Amino acid sequence: MYIEKIHLKQFRNLKKIELYFTNGLNIIYGENGIGKTSILEAIYFLCFTRSFKSKQDNDLVKRGNNYFQIASQWKDNYDKTLVIKGNFLKSKGKKFFYDGTEIKKNSEMIGKTPIVFQSPENYIITSGGSKFKRIYFDKLLSQISKEYLTDLLDHVKISKQRNAYLKILAKRKQFYSDNQIDVYNEQILPLMWRIYSKRNSIIKEFNIKFKSLFKEIVSESLEVKIEYNPSISGENFDQFSENYKTKIDDNIGKEIALHRSLYGVNYDRINFYRDGKLLENFASQGEHKLWMNIMKLSEGKIIAERKNKEPIYLFDDVFAELDVSNSKKIIEKISNKQQAIVTATDLNDLQALGVNTDSSDVNIIHLKQETEGKTNEI
Ligand SMILES: Nc1ncnc2c1ncn2[C@@H]1O[C@H](COP(=O)(O)OP(=O)(O)O)[C@@H](O)[C@H]1O
Ligand SMILES: [Mg+2]
Repeated sequence: MYIEKIHLKQFRNLKKIELYFTNGLNIIYGENGIGKTSILEAIYFLCFTRSFKSKQDNDLVKRGNNYFQIASQWKDNYDKTLVIKGNFLKSKGKKFFYDGTEIKKNSEMIGKTPIVFQSPENYIITSGGSKFKRIYFDKLLSQISKEYLTDLLDHVKISKQRNAYLKILAKRKQFYSDNQIDVYNEQILPLMWRIYSKRNSIIKEFNIKFKSLFKEIVSESLEVKIEYNPSISGENFDQFSENYKTKIDDNIGKEIALHRSLYGVNYDRINFYRDGKLLENFASQGEHKLWMNIMKLSEGKIIAERKNKEPIYLFDDVFAELDVSNSKKIIEKISNKQQAIVTATDLNDLQALGVNTDSSDVNIIHLKQETEGKTNEI
């Protein structure tokens, strides 16, 4: 599946713009602040129903307006044309349309058009704490499993209720659990078990793909590993529940005092090791970036296999930052995928990486104030 066309109205700084993409490599280039990232953001919005930058959809509306519109045309695996739209009105919120049908629940959009999005902001995933790594794998799993996404959302809901109840117990100065806490535990356990099981299997699979790509791209023979260290584990549901309950029984007083759960999938850790050492403790910036880009390639492979659908690769401002030899290998890999859209401020940067910008296989889009197309008003 790949995107052929996008039409934006009042999205970020883009008043009205229409762009055409081809399969294979697409390059959007233009000066800083012209709207390159915003275009990828609009595609991302259709796939994840939200921005990767702003929590508020209002931020995406061109200043001084009260709506934005994203209309896009895709080709599916059977070469059928598909229209996907996302509209937002400040007073009414957002609405999505997939192939002519209005989507009832926004979360249904996630995973329909899988994407692998990469930008310099992602580098926090390798250098930051476990939370960023959990969010990363949660997003990946959400694209490939509807059940995972539903479980994750339900888990947030029940965790909140459980935490609110812990607060009530704290006010009552009741530092032991009661029946109501058990009710929450029984509700949350099957969700945690399924989240744990899926994280466990995806990270194992991810690790295998990552290792082999790392070996292929980085010539040094370094031992690399991505490892899951769950807060609670178990061979089966009963064992998992038993382990959770034991932890809770021993620590309920602490949970009540702090008004929050202290065990469970929110406390899982995912560790990245390079040569037996934690990556965040010693890797250089360049090594972090390389690692993150290889993660993105691994992610793409997993999505393609699990969904039987190639994701599209959106790489924002990545290549000017990586060193040349690594950049070459990464861009070569994504150029051979079904579709990649990359942005750059300067076309020369990509030429320096061996991209033949004169080739008819590469679609070049130059974004500028007075654009060629009559419909474009930036
Ligand atoms: N809601 C908005 N309305 C108008 N302009 C905006 C809005 N949000 C962001 N911008 C501006 O849009 C411009 C385009 O940003 P961006 O897409 O990041 O450009 P690029 O990636 O080409 O450097 C920035 O100058 C930013 O300040
Ligand atoms: Mg940008």
